[in-house]
Amino acid sequence: MSVKKYIQDNQEKFLNELIDLLKIPSVSADPKFKDDVFAAAEFVRVSLEKAGADQVELCQTAGYPIVYGEKIINPELPTVLVYGHYDVQPADPYELWDSPPFEPVIKKTERHPEGAIFARGSADDKGQFYMHVKAFEAMMSNNELPCNIKFMIEGEEEVGSEHLDIFVKENKEKLKADVVLVSDTHMISLENPSVTVGLRGLAYMQVEVTGPNRDLHSGTYGGAVANPINILCKMIASLQDENNHITIPGFYDKVETYADDYRKALNDAPFDLEAYKKELDINDVHGEAGYSTIERVGIRPTLDVNGIWGGYTGEGAKTVLPSKAYAKISMRLVPNQDHKEISKLFEEHFKAIAPASVKVKVTPHHGGQAAVVSTETPGYRAADLAIQEAFGKKAIPTREGGSIPICSLFQKELGLDPILLGFGLDTDALHSPNEHYGVKNYYMGIETIALFFKYFKDEASK
Ligand code: BES
Ligand code: ZN
Repeated sequence: MSVKKYIQDNQEKFLNELIDLLKIPSVSADPKFKDDVFAAAEFVRVSLEKAGADQVELCQTAGYPIVYGEKIINPELPTVLVYGHYDVQPADPYELWDSPPFEPVIKKTERHPEGAIFARGSADDKGQFYMHVKAFEAMMSNNELPCNIKFMIEGEEEVGSEHLDIFVKENKEKLKADVVLVSDTHMISLENPSVTVGLRGLAYMQVEVTGPNRDLHSGTYGGAVANPINILCKMIASLQDENNHITIPGFYDKVETYADDYRKALNDAPFDLEAYKKELDINDVHGEAGYSTIERVGIRPTLDVNGIWGGYTGEGAKTVLPSKAYAKISMRLVPNQDHKEISKLFEEHFKAIAPASVKVKVTPHHGGQAAVVSTETPGYRAADLAIQEAFGKKAIPTREGGSIPICSLFQKELGLDPILLGFGLDTDALHSPNEHYGVKNYYMGIETIALFFKYFKDEASK
């Protein structure tokens, strides 16, 4: 039986297994789900063992474990290191989901006429890393694994992969490979398959603005004492100018500018602005002057408030001049912008623009560097060939706006360019209510991944 036939014959089984995995609420950000995160790790461990991996283990870290497993068929052959994450984003706000986030259901959508699995983590990243486990199972069952394989599936990606750094640095020999293969990104569509060749970095800050030492009567004191929420809003508004350029001094110093032909190639990728606006129910897009939507997301840095709070937000009206205001602010970064340096620039600037009437505290959260991947490598060529065979079309290289901080870690510590072979769509509602993943994308992904191994063996030995 061929690998392709095995995958086709086992579609239902593969889908049911994924559904079982999606039922585990492995939210890494919330300690309430600690046992579930461990349970998801255990699920991955068992599934790797069942699929035929050796040396399967839960590698303990100071946080959640990294699931490792391998199959070394011949040390002379090339080795593929598969990375993914079994943790998921919090599902809040639950009331905005049409069905409970950890009770997967399959429904048809406009972009998934053949059905999509609705559940938190379906596209990010359980549905995607699990394709690798199933592709591996299919190759093993047919005695057709062309290369060695190593799996490293972590449980802290959604909270910044804090403990992965040390693990990678301390286990270079164990993780030694010829390529890293990651499915945790998007493709343009099944009709226009693509491979991601760039991801943005991230610097995530929390700010606290304090006015008076206690909440005050907004009549007695309003107008005479600084309201930290008013001040915070003004400070945030000043971080971008009328062209939506970021005003933090030095912010753009290391930002690369691209030649016209590179920008043209990016903009030549299929992109329907009207459909984009319609899907989001917006009348217009918004962003830095002089750049297209594709460029704003792919090659330009940005700054966004992710949350802002303070004062009275309960029922009715309470007249209060609050003592404190808070915001969580993220900056998406591009290659050469160091997230630690940018965090420092942000902190200095944010303190400098604060009026004397308030005190400001700035706390950096997690961060990570951007990554750009060459298209001139055996790994990229293998991905392109696999896509050509599975989809009948060449892969379009794209740059995406999300971040996977470990990609730059792999480049730096292991000297490996990650191949970002993702099968989600940008409309799959990652991190949002009603996250979903196309059933067809899941099956096509499994087939394409198996083909990647076949082509990588040839490409790596050229
Ligand atoms: N899968 C995403 C990254 C992603 C999303 C890549 C969309 C390409 C397109 C990943 O799990 C993620 O969400 N990463 C976080 C960063 C992390 C440090 C919390 C992100 O991008 O916000
Ligand atoms: Zn992810």
